[in-house]
This record gives sequence, C-alpha cells and structure tokens, in this order.
Amino acid sequence: MLNPSAAQVEPPEGSTAVGTGKGGVGKSTVAAHLAGESAAAGHRTLLICVTGQDDDDLGIKRYGRGIHPQGPSAIDGEGLYRAIHDRTPLQPIREVRPNLDVLPGGPKVADVANVLMLRMMQEGPTVVLSLARSLAPIAPLYDRVIFDSAPENDALEQLVLASTKTLIVPTRSDESSIKGMERISRNFKVVKQQVNPYLEMAGAFLYGSNRSATLMHNAVRNDIRTTLGEGTPILDTIVGYREVPARNARKKGLLFGEYADLLPTSATPRDVKAGRATEADVVPETIIPLSKEMRELTTEIFEHHGRTA
Ligand SMILES: Nc1ncnc2c1ncn2[C@@H]1O[C@H](COP(=O)(O)OP(=O)(O)OP(=O)(O)O)[C@@H](O)[C@H]1O
Ligand SMILES: [Mg+2]
Repeated sequence: MLNPSAAQVEPPEGSTAVGTGKGGVGKSTVAAHLAGESAAAGHRTLLICVTGQDDDDLGIKRYGRGIHPQGPSAIDGEGLYRAIHDRTPLQPIREVRPNLDVLPGGPKVADVANVLMLRMMQEGPTVVLSLARSLAPIAPLYDRVIFDSAPENDALEQLVLASTKTLIVPTRSDESSIKGMERISRNFKVVKQQVNPYLEMAGAFLYGSNRSATLMHNAVRNDIRTTLGEGTPILDTIVGYREVPARNARKKGLLFGEYADLLPTSATPRDVKAGRATEADVVPETIIPLSKEMRELTTEIFEHHGRTA
C-alpha cells in the first residue's frame, strides 16, 4: 500500500501529458504516436491513458498486443482504477511494442473520478496525487511517460496534471476548441499552485488543419496565446486533416507509420471491384503524408522538450 499522506510527489523526468478541455481534437492520437515514436527510438516508454474511452490505437484489445499482468484484467481502465482504488503501484501491459508499456483507458476510468471525490472529504486536495503515487514506484523503469487525458472532466484532468512534469496542448482551429483550452489552463494553474510545482507548459499546437491555410494559422496562434498566456511556446508543425487514413489506422490498431509500411502490399480498388479484397484491405496513399507529418510533430515535441529540460 502506498503512503496516502505524502504531501508532494515529484513527477518523473521525461513525463508529458497531452491535454486540452475539448473532446475530439486529437489528444489520444498524438499521445499514442508520441509513445510509439519514443519507444521505437529506443527509449523505455510508458503510456497511461486516463480516458473513459479506449480508442485502442495500439491494437491491445482488438489484436491482443502486449503481455498482460497476471491476475485481474488491466484493459478497459480496470488496471488504472484498481491501482488508484487499492493505492498500489501501476501494473501496465508490457511490450505492446518493443520498449512500450501501456495502461489502457476505458469505461472504468469514470469510477476513478468517484473514488477521488469520496476521498477528497478526508484527504483534501492532495487526493489528486493518487496517480502520481501509483506511478512513482515503477517510474524508474522508464525514460519517458506519456499521459493521454480525458476532456471535460476536471478531476481526471487534475489527476494527470499532478503526475506530469510537462503539458502539451493540441487544438483544432474552431472556437470551441480554443475555448476548451481555458479549462486546461485553469486546471494547470490550480494543480501547479496546490500540489505539483514542477508542472510546466511545454507548448501548444494546431492539429488536423489544412496545412496551406497560413493566415488562419496565424490567427489561431494569437487565440492560443490569448487563452494560454503570451509566453506559451507554439509548435510549427501542423498535421493535416486526413480523415480516411487516420480512421483506418485506428481500426487496424496501427500507428500511422506502421500502417504506411503496409502500402506496398496493399490491395487495390481493382481488387475490391473484382471481389478479391474488401475496402478495408486498401491502404490509402494519403497515409504517407499523414505519417510523415506525425513524425515531424513528435520529433518537434521531443526536441522542444529537450531544450526546455
Ligand atoms: N490528422 C487527422 N485528420 C483527420 N482525422 C484525424 C486525424 N487524427 C486523428 N483523427 C481522427 O479524429 C478523431 C478524434 O481524434 P482523437 O480520438 O485522437 O481525439 P481526442 O482529443 O483524443 O478525442 P476525445 O476527447 O474523444 O478523447 C478520431 O476519429 C481520429 O481517428
Ligand atoms: Mg481521446
């Protein structure tokens, strides 16, 4: 059992949360790719998904990837819930890819918020350190820890912010995505002030946008600075909006680069017409620019973190 009264927990070096207060802006996609690229580059990496929905970008559930811990299930947010509820160290699913361990999100994560609320009465605001405490014993095993976060839930957002050294904020260009940043900004300030003085804003970036709309991008950058603060670093890379390859890759439980590797052996629309293959077997060519842009983004984020550190 972990010590629930420890007042402060320093988050691990190389910890990064992807978060913003708005749903559907690309948080889970970016978090999975940050974790995947980090692991592929040889860094021992842990991905923690504090999300009520499991998008299974890495094919853990659908394709049985990874080595599951013995005992009760770790998927559907069960592993995360149990560690927080029982105050025990996290037990991730190991080697989902070489060097990559994962604690998947899912419906049970909603119950984590209830546990926090109940404990808040007795333990006060340090209850948001629950995840940081369950992470601390295993953190030395990893070079990097990436968090995916849930939108529109202050308790879960704060739980993540209390466990990480840095926050990176994706946004889309629309008004409600910009507004969503206000929520994360509020939670960032509260958590930094009350429980995690180590927390830093690593930056923000525009995700899923037309790459040639540069005038609009400048306007959005101004909106980001107005919302998150003038000094907020804004990344240059913009990953384009490419719905078909993004959707197909997720369905196959593959990261964009892994899906792009299937292109040379892909079925063609002709095969589909002839009944030799289905639509799902055709890898769209647009996966090439999408995977290239995502690689550019993850590289920029890690380089930027290196400079900040
Ligand atoms: N570059 C892209 N272009 C178009 N669609 C994309 C792109 N990247 C991801 N998507 C799709 O956009 C949708 C939302 O992405 P994602 O799940 O990563 O967002 P999220 O912020 O994690 O959402 P939630 O708040 O629901 O957790 C998904 O269907 C995903 O496949
Ligand atoms: Mg998500």
